[in-house]
Amino acid sequence: MANLTTQYMGLKLDSPIIAGSSGMTDKPEKIKKLAEAGAGAVVLKSLFEEQINMEVDSQAVNNMYGNYDDVENYVSFYTRKHNLDAYLKLIKDTKAAVDIPVIASINCISAGEWTDFAKKIENAGADGLELNIFVLPSDPEQEADKLVKNYHQIVQEVSNACDLPLAVKTSYYFTSLSRRMVKLSNEPQVKALVLFNRFYNPDVDLDKEEVKSGHIYSVPEENAMCLRWVGALYGKVGSDLAASHGIHDGEAVLKNLLIGASAVQIASVLYKEGPDEIKSMLNTINAWMDKKGYEKLADIIGKLAQSNIKRPMIYERAQFMKYYSEHR
Ligand SMILES: Cc1cc2nc3c(=O)[nH]c(=O)nc-3n(C[C@H](O)[C@H](O)[C@H](O)COP(=O)(O)O)c2cc1C
Repeated sequence: MANLTTQYMGLKLDSPIIAGSSGMTDKPEKIKKLAEAGAGAVVLKSLFEEQINMEVDSQAVNNMYGNYDDVENYVSFYTRKHNLDAYLKLIKDTKAAVDIPVIASINCISAGEWTDFAKKIENAGADGLELNIFVLPSDPEQEADKLVKNYHQIVQEVSNACDLPLAVKTSYYFTSLSRRMVKLSNEPQVKALVLFNRFYNPDVDLDKEEVKSGHIYSVPEENAMCLRWVGALYGKVGSDLAASHGIHDGEAVLKNLLIGASAVQIASVLYKEGPDEIKSMLNTINAWMDKKGYEKLADIIGKLAQSNIKRPMIYERAQFMKYYSEHR
C-alpha cells in the first residue's frame, strides 16, 4: 500500500481527503466518524462574520449603558454569545475527539472587529483557519480594485490577529483569476487556496413562476473547473492548493492530485453516501497507485499540472473550434 500522507497548510495529513466545511462537520460525533473513515483533516462548519459582529456590537452596547434596557436585546445577546462560545467548544471538543488536524472556518465579506475572534479560535486549539471570502460582484457601481482590496484587507487583519496558518476559500468571479490567486497566495500567512467555494444558485420554478434555490449538492461534472484552475495555478502560486468542487469518487481525487492539488475537500458526496465513502475513495487511490507502482503521493502531486506537461496549451483551450467545425 502506498504512503498517502500529504502536506497541506504546513500540516501533515495522513490522507489527502479533507471533510470540507458543511453540516457534516458541525459536531464532534460526526467528525469522529469522518476521521475513522480516513479523512486526513476536517474543516469545521463555518461561523459567519455577522454572528461574530453581533456579539461585538452587543458588547459595545453593554459597555456604553452598563445594562440592557430591553429584554429582547438581552436575550439575543446571550443567544448570539452562545453561538461563539459553542463554536470555541466545538473546536476544543473536536480536538479532544480526533487526532486529525482541525481547521476552523469563517465566512466573511469584510474586514472589521470580528477579525479579533481569530485569536480565540487559535487559543481554542484549532490547527488552522479557513477564510471563506465572497462578495458577489453584482453591484455595477463597484470597481474591481475595491473588491480585490477587500480580500487582502481581510487576510491581513486576520493575520495581525492570530498566528494560525490560513487557507483562503474563494470563488472564480475575478477579472484576472490567475493573478488574484497568486497575489492572495503570496500573503505571508496564507498557506493554501481552496478552489472553489460552492454557492446557492438561483433556479426557476416554472409551475409557480417563482425564483427558487437551485441544487445544493454538486455533480461530478462540476469538477472540470477545479481541474482547469488547479492545473493552471500549480507551481505559480505561493501556497498549497486544495480542490473542492464535484469530487465524488476516488478517481476524481486522483485526477485532482495529479494536476496539482495537495488535498481535496469534499462535502456533497458525504451528504449523499455518508462518511464511509471516504474509505472506498482511499481504496481506489491505493489500488491505482499499486497498479502504477507509485509509493507515495508526493510522486503524483502536480505530475500533470500545466507547468509539468509537454502540451501546456491544453489547459488554455477554451473553445471547441475543431469539435464545432466537424459536428454541425
Ligand atoms: C449543504 C452544504 C453546506 C455547506 N456549508 C458550508 C459552510 O458552512 N462553509 C463553507 O465554507 N462551505 C460550505 N459548503 C461548501 C463545501 O465545503 C464545499 O466547498 C463545496 O460544497 C464543494 O464541494 P462538493 O462538490 O464536494 O460539495 C457547504 C456545502 C454544502 C453542500
